[in-house]
Amino acid sequence: MKVLVIGNGGREHALVWKIAQSPRVTKLYCAPGNAGIEQLATCVAIQADDIAGLKAFVVSEKIDLTVVGPEAPLAAGIADEFRKAKLKIFGPTRAAAQLESSKTFSKELMARHHIPTALSQSFTSLEPALAYLDRQRAPIVVKADGLAQGKGVIVATTLEQARQALVDMLEKKTFGQSGSRVVIEEFLDGEELTIMAFTDGNTVVPMLPAQDHKRVGDGDTGPNTGGMGAYAPAPLGSPALRAAVLEQVLRPVVAAMSKAGSPFAGVLYAGLMIVKGKPRVLEFNARFGDPETEVILPLLKTDLVDVLEAVVEHRLDQLTVEWHNRSAVCVVMTSGGYPGVYPTGVPIVGLPEKVLSGDVLVYHAGTKRQGRDVVTAGGRVLGITGVGEHFTDAMQRAYEMVRMISFEGCHYRSDIAQRALRTGIAHT
Ligand code: AMP
Ligand code: GLY
Repeated sequence: MKVLVIGNGGREHALVWKIAQSPRVTKLYCAPGNAGIEQLATCVAIQADDIAGLKAFVVSEKIDLTVVGPEAPLAAGIADEFRKAKLKIFGPTRAAAQLESSKTFSKELMARHHIPTALSQSFTSLEPALAYLDRQRAPIVVKADGLAQGKGVIVATTLEQARQALVDMLEKKTFGQSGSRVVIEEFLDGEELTIMAFTDGNTVVPMLPAQDHKRVGDGDTGPNTGGMGAYAPAPLGSPALRAAVLEQVLRPVVAAMSKAGSPFAGVLYAGLMIVKGKPRVLEFNARFGDPETEVILPLLKTDLVDVLEAVVEHRLDQLTVEWHNRSAVCVVMTSGGYPGVYPTGVPIVGLPEKVLSGDVLVYHAGTKRQGRDVVTAGGRVLGITGVGEHFTDAMQRAYEMVRMISFEGCHYRSDIAQRALRTGIAHT
């Protein structure tokens, strides 16, 4: 079977790596891909948001299954276009992807269905937003309603900072259209956990729990990023907590979407804050997380293509999804300056010949080939995953490789998965 993966980041490199292992796949393409992906798949120069171009390619190459990595094409309706043309695609429709593309949509759905989340209020104009803020206390959270690549959330420690965020989003339009509506949300104090699930709109199969590291600096300091590293299975996600997330969050959301006539099929990502042992939803994503995917897929025992197909064909109830009893840690290496401005085109040295072998996986995120060099081409440049029996082995493998690779200005966090070590239990 012929498969196309859409996207060009570390998540897509992990998807391509895993899909390439399926004995059922005869030909693998990626659009547009990157310098790492091109070692495993034929990269085609079509951008992830060029829906017409992607559809034409799928038709002409007779692709059997298309797998969407990033959120933008989903929010723009790629799944609707493909389904209309009877092309198999893994990813939710535009209406279902609103769970990610509009925070107001997902907050209203959660309120209607009593899904635990932070209290919040949405605004489209500045005056009422400021008036509401005056009645709140810091810390408080201000979020752009639309897609902002993980950067549209301001956790304000003072009301003044929150006011500034509102002015920036609603008046100065720093987030463009995405910030023309904002959500002001109660600050939740707890520990974050990601639980992603495969769902065909009916059956929900959770993946192993993972933890992302959103802040740029060690010890969770500095601004939010798209994700500086991740590990799985996160010990915080105990069996009891996972059961609670399934019953209180994932199943009700999937049932509500189906009932509303917009069934959600694909990966539903729940970003959670665990407050006093109980889950509260921070956000939903309508796709695989990045960098969570880079630690989750190496632990998946079942053929990923079988899972993706079962979702697309609405028969996930007939499949058992199995996991390896191991641990994985991913350390993201970024360009200097990220998540602010950063240079590109910086040569990367020390990359191993075979980037994805054994228990160390060097995923390319923002890279491109320039003559004989591989150079940086984005904020998040590489994601290095170590896999091991325990978190200590996994971390050691990841960091050993990280230290062999370098480029000018390179930054990474040195404390990825430390929390898992402190908790001490790798498998629950
Ligand atoms: P989001 O994109 O909504 O997941 O927000 C990005 C990050 O901001 C989260 O991963 C949290 O670290 C933080 N955050 C978001 N909402 C809240 C909240 N209500 N309370 C505390 N921190 C939050
Ligand atoms: N790791 C967070 C995200 O994928 O949005």
